[in-house]
Amino acid sequence: MASDPLIDAARAVRERAFAPFSLFKVGAALEAEDGTIVTGCNVESASYGLTICAERTAIVKGVSEGQTRFRRVAIVADTQELTPPCGACRQLLWEFAPEAEVLLANLQGKVVRWTMRELLPAAFDASLLRKS
Ligand code: THU
Repeated sequence: MASDPLIDAARAVRERAFAPFSLFKVGAALEAEDGTIVTGCNVESASYGLTICAERTAIVKGVSEGQTRFRRVAIVADTQELTPPCGACRQLLWEFAPEAEVLLANLQGKVVRWTMRELLPAAFDASLLRKS
């Protein structure tokens, strides 16, 4: 199977996941509209609820570096059944990558493709904040 640089980037950053509580390491990579790849891993907190998912780490990194539109997303975890983004991450991904293709992959090279539109139908976003 031909390798995809975006999936490779997500797989590599997954190694940096800070997940001493769940031991569940996740890597995410976003491809910006200009081709730049931004990566993120999950970062867990001893207070559990402050844990940040890999996807949101990547979005926050990207936005803070000036990238606010993404066309592809890759998420890698070590699971047989591929790991999709949680609800909170779907919301934030929608706001910065509504047209994106989302590639879910595992360490064995299994890949499944979704779109953000499929993962979050009837999404709430900034367009709804405008009255009338
Ligand atoms: N996690 C992610 O980073 N992304 C996902 O898509 C699912 C869950 C993290 C959060 C937590 O550190 C660990 O996986 C277990 O839920």
